[in-house]
Amino acid sequence: MKKITINLGQKRKYDVIIGYNNLNKIGSYIKKFDIGKSLFIITDSHVNKLYGQKVKNIFKKSGFQDIYIAEFPEGEKSKTYKIYLILIEKLIEFDNELNKDLFIATLGGGVPGDIGGFAASTFRRGINYIQIPTTFLANVDSGIGGKVGIDFKNIKNLLGSFYQPKLVFVDLSFLKTLDKRELKSGFAEVIKYGVIKDYKFFVYIEKHYKDILNLNPKIMESIVGKSYRIKADVVKKDERDTKEIRMALNYGHTIGHAIESASGFYFKHGEAISIGMVCANDIACNLGMLNLKDANRIENLLSKSQLPVKISHCKVSDIIEFLKHDKKNISGTNRFVLPSKIGKVEIKRGIPENLIEKVLKNRLE
Ligand SMILES: NC(=O)c1ccc[n+]([C@@H]2O[C@H](COP(=O)([O-])OP(=O)(O)OC[C@H]3O[C@@H](n4cnc5c(N)ncnc54)[C@H](O)[C@@H]3O)[C@@H](O)[C@H]2O)c1
Repeated sequence: MKKITINLGQKRKYDVIIGYNNLNKIGSYIKKFDIGKSLFIITDSHVNKLYGQKVKNIFKKSGFQDIYIAEFPEGEKSKTYKIYLILIEKLIEFDNELNKDLFIATLGGGVPGDIGGFAASTFRRGINYIQIPTTFLANVDSGIGGKVGIDFKNIKNLLGSFYQPKLVFVDLSFLKTLDKRELKSGFAEVIKYGVIKDYKFFVYIEKHYKDILNLNPKIMESIVGKSYRIKADVVKKDERDTKEIRMALNYGHTIGHAIESASGFYFKHGEAISIGMVCANDIACNLGMLNLKDANRIENLLSKSQLPVKISHCKVSDIIEFLKHDKKNISGTNRFVLPSKIGKVEIKRGIPENLIEKVLKNRLE
């Protein structure tokens, strides 16, 4: 098992535990820092069916007796205020006005993680929570960093907050049941880390992409560990995304999020980010920032990893409309994370709309 400590300064830190078939050790970790006695698990219908009872039994064996599992229909379409309010109602019912010493465990991918973390951040002005990520995407990205929230009016993550978990517990054996398309979706975020921060990591991914798709446990442990280390380093320097440092993690996400929304969530998050990354590269090449060789190398790795690099199932005009709501825009001026080479990105402001439109049109399937 690997342990990574996310140190946010002022004595605020939490551990990420990464292992394979290690979930039965979770109780002993939680007891170390006394985060609560009653456990409210937030998960989706699919993950609950697969793992809800197993996880509940593990917690019971570890001495937690008061446990409630709240599930919601699986998928991005549940990341709404309606589901959020249902969860809050259930929390109130579970708490039963006793002001229980309760904490939340989010069990699942980025959707239960984001909405469950948001419920934890707002219920009684914030209660403790832990993340038990079960998708590859949550294993390498959404599980840490403390960005929690929900979509609103079809706009991604419009309502949310920064709220760090007390522990992130990764058991890679969850991935055995994960759909291949979901696995590849997580892969996009791994490739992102290589491009934004670490050329050597990019080369490592190029070498091992088949091992990742085949879930080689050793390689996966190292990939998840390295991804979290890169993310942790960025989050530590700019926890609240105010210094244009954390923004690097949004490489591919500006156009990616707009494609997710414009396609009515036809594309999985990572798939949309894959298209968003090649579009960002196209913009960078047009601006003379990135050479074609690096752009092609990134696109090749995405394609070999069976991720989409062409736009379909949405209109360019709709993507442009959703781009206007991007949270990175300041006073109507857009901001894009663009690579200057593999391993380095820069923030560019005011990218002309006609260039964005040209790039999007050229990427249409
Ligand atoms: N907070 C952050 O920093 C951050 C970062 C990246 C992405 N996100 C968010 O994460 C979300 C996407 O996350 P996701 O791709 O994990 O989506 P998800 O949570 O919807 O999971 C995808 C699917 O996989 C299923 N699933 C989960 N674990 C499984 C398992 N072990 N076996 C079989 N099936 C399983 C789920 O039921 C669901 O159908 C988006 O909403 C995105 O905005 C957040």
